[in-house]
Amino acid sequence: MKIGIIGAGLIGRILAKKFSDAAHQVKLADRKSVVAIKAVADFACVEAVEMEDVIRDIDVLVIAIPLMAIPSLAQALEENLDRNVIIIETTNYWPHRDAKIEALENGTVNSVWVQQQLGRTVVKAFSNIGAYSLLVEGKPKNSEGRIAIAVSADVQNEIDLVMGLVDDAGFDALDAGPLQDSWRQQACGPAYCTDLPIDQLIKARQSAVRQTLVEKQERSFSIMKDLGQEFFDILVSGKYPAGFVDHAVDINRSINGLPPRTHSK
Ligand SMILES: NC(=O)c1ccc[n+]([C@@H]2O[C@H](COP(=O)([O-])OP(=O)(O)OC[C@H]3O[C@@H](n4cnc5c(N)ncnc54)[C@H](OP(=O)(O)O)[C@@H]3O)[C@@H](O)[C@H]2O)c1
Repeated sequence: MKIGIIGAGLIGRILAKKFSDAAHQVKLADRKSVVAIKAVADFACVEAVEMEDVIRDIDVLVIAIPLMAIPSLAQALEENLDRNVIIIETTNYWPHRDAKIEALENGTVNSVWVQQQLGRTVVKAFSNIGAYSLLVEGKPKNSEGRIAIAVSADVQNEIDLVMGLVDDAGFDALDAGPLQDSWRQQACGPAYCTDLPIDQLIKARQSAVRQTLVEKQERSFSIMKDLGQEFFDILVSGKYPAGFVDHAVDINRSINGLPPRTHSK
């Protein structure tokens, strides 16, 4: 498959590497120049290209940028992206870190808002797993304890195609139904960054309570803040010392009354 990825940060570069390893043809772009992202593209063994080139001649476009940047990207994509390209969007809403978005504060589901901004259908995927786990926890199909990732969209063939890419990345894919229900895997409910196998992810999504998400997200942010700047530095570094992944996952687990993880791969 020909895949374009916008956003050469943590999620974009990890997905670029995984899709390239799975023999897809991948190109990567960012608002930074080709020269600036060359080292990242080399790490992922993919081609670094300009923004206008990343959307040309592709089957799938992955958008891995902060949620706040979606409206400006929407303008750039308008009329330039072929209508047949399937869009994967990975965003999460962290008002503590970014800024508040009025529509989301008033109840619009994160990905529904992204779809509205882009004016075309999107698939939400790779949003309920931390970059740390995405990087190190992939396993071959049928492996014991393989972590599952939720895939939501309003068009079934788009879900089906992206489920295949989730599998290629080393994770089980859960068909999580329409975008309107994707709040069930949003931060910081039981299906968000808790690294569950598929049977448990299904139960976690079912048990999510929308009214509790904001409070849980505030608790998670507060726990991370108490851990100090070093925790955030590691989180965004893409380099995770032994035990860090368990620790990060256990924060989300503890908030949701789930047992701690006891192992790393
Ligand atoms: N990190 C996680 O664990 C995680 C997990 C699941 C989902 N997500 C979501 O996935 C998305 C990407 O996360 P991330 O951790 O990869 O973020 P990140 O490390 O901050 O990377 C985002 C990249 O996008 C670039 N960018 C910003 N605005 C852009 C635009 N308009 N056009 C093109 N490139 C742009 C940024 O450039 P600059 O550096 O110049 O700003 C940066 O290189 C976010 O929405 C996040 O909420 C993250």
